[in-house]
Amino acid sequence: MIVCSCNVLTDHDVRSAAKTQTSAKSARAVYGCLGCSAQCGRCARTIRKILKDALSQTCGESCSCGRCRA
Ligand code: FES
Repeated sequence: MIVCSCNVLTDHDVRSAAKTQTSAKSARAVYGCLGCSAQCGRCARTIRKILKDALSQTCGESCSCGRCRA
């Protein structure tokens, strides 16, 4: 499903960035990891939610990556 119509990013793109890019700590960083930047910003809340959900599934109790607790 497309979650960012300006940059044509899908929920899969965001989850993939969250799981493979250690610098994907915020919505802004996710845009950067995917080679784009925020345009209208309407998708930022959705991207933050997908990022948080993806990290909560990836990281465990003893995780020290610094992204999942941000
Ligand atoms: S919908 Fe993502 S920046 Fe506009």
